[in-house]
Amino acid sequence: PVHDAAQHPEPVTLPTERPAGCPFDPPAELAQLREEQPLRRLSFPDGHTGWLATGHSVVRSIMADPRFSARYELLHYPLADVGDIPPAPPGEFLGLDGLEHTRYRRLLMGKFTVRRMRQLTERVEQFTAECLDAMESHGGPVDLVETFAQPIPGLMICELLGVPYAERDFFQEHVTTLFNQAASEEERGTAMAAMMEYLQGLVLAKRAEPTDDLLSDLTTSDLTDEELSGVGVFLLAAGFDTTANMLGLGTFALLSNPDQLAALRDDPGLAEGAVEELMRYLTVADPTLRSALEDVEIAGQKIKAGETVLLSFQAANRDPAKFLEPDRLDLHRKATGHVAFGHGPHQCLGQQLARVEMAVAFPALLTRFPTLRLAVPAEEVPFRANMNIYGVHRLLVTWDKE
Ligand code: HEM
Repeated sequence: PVHDAAQHPEPVTLPTERPAGCPFDPPAELAQLREEQPLRRLSFPDGHTGWLATGHSVVRSIMADPRFSARYELLHYPLADVGDIPPAPPGEFLGLDGLEHTRYRRLLMGKFTVRRMRQLTERVEQFTAECLDAMESHGGPVDLVETFAQPIPGLMICELLGVPYAERDFFQEHVTTLFNQAASEEERGTAMAAMMEYLQGLVLAKRAEPTDDLLSDLTTSDLTDEELSGVGVFLLAAGFDTTANMLGLGTFALLSNPDQLAALRDDPGLAEGAVEELMRYLTVADPTLRSALEDVEIAGQKIKAGETVLLSFQAANRDPAKFLEPDRLDLHRKATGHVAFGHGPHQCLGQQLARVEMAVAFPALLTRFPTLRLAVPAEEVPFRANMNIYGVHRLLVTWDKE
């Protein structure tokens, strides 16, 4: 049945405050809103009235429905009135629909297959061991974000794009500044410009002398230099901060649930399932937005053409209709079907790579440092609040020397 407006009078505003003392849980109001109505009206700061989707089933339906567009210029932004949103820059295909989107997706799919990513496993193991060696020789306490969570995805993006060894330090340094929220706007602007310039140069180098990597492979496609370097910048943006925050926040979640940590440490066979559960439980990339291209009737509601829908992945991943005792971190549960990598045509292209990185890195860390623990009280760990990618800024850890 389609509800009439009288049944749900007031649009709500987006709850963003996480419950005190439960840094891994979404805002409590989200659960209440989901229970009342998994799809309901939402007020946006620019005056637009759109929709908030919180139920697992409706979130998946909308994400898979071609009547909803991902074009940035059609969206209203939920946290502040930012005025008109410009269209995606060349290469940033998350902001494209239909054939324009599949043009990129087709070219890239073959570079991200499960098989190809499994081939990268050995490199991930090697990088992870190097990071752990460096931590060990430094001795605790160390900042796990700087020594472990950031370098692993950073180096894997280098590997994927084909950044030459000699240039990796330069690359890593700019990438970490780019995503360091403590850096000033100016510092980040400079790092972004350096990165774009670097990738433009890299594309030209790969055209002149192709090597065995993604950018070289793509030089034979119909993508222009501008689109190709744009793809490079976008992959970096999509794959670095996300994975880094999963590694940082994931370690903190494990340290906060010692029985779960012990289970994973004692049974590395649990790693793949543990990664899915950590993805579900933490849902670091949230939310996303879509715009209705036509009038759509869904979940008993009428969404009008032009209205923005906010898809709350964190609410969907804690929906008790889908996951039993959703607020419990349980590495033994079957967490498949979560939407932490999105769903539908834009579902995360790098998910197999991210999975390999996490499935290698978490167990390696716990095996190398069986006594790993926080070096500061848990309340003092600085969280990244109200950011597109949730996580921790720093995670000081230590361990007993052998
Ligand atoms: C898309 C999350 C790692 C590349 C997405 C989306 C989510 C997501 C939620 C969908 C966004 C939407 O529909 O609005 C994550 C998380 C990661 C991760 C949580 C780490 C744990 C990576 C990595 C790469 C990558 C390692 C590449 C190296 C992409 C790309 C898209 C995407 C290219 C856009 C796909 C498209 O528009 O067709 N990711 N991601 N991601 N991700 Fe990831």
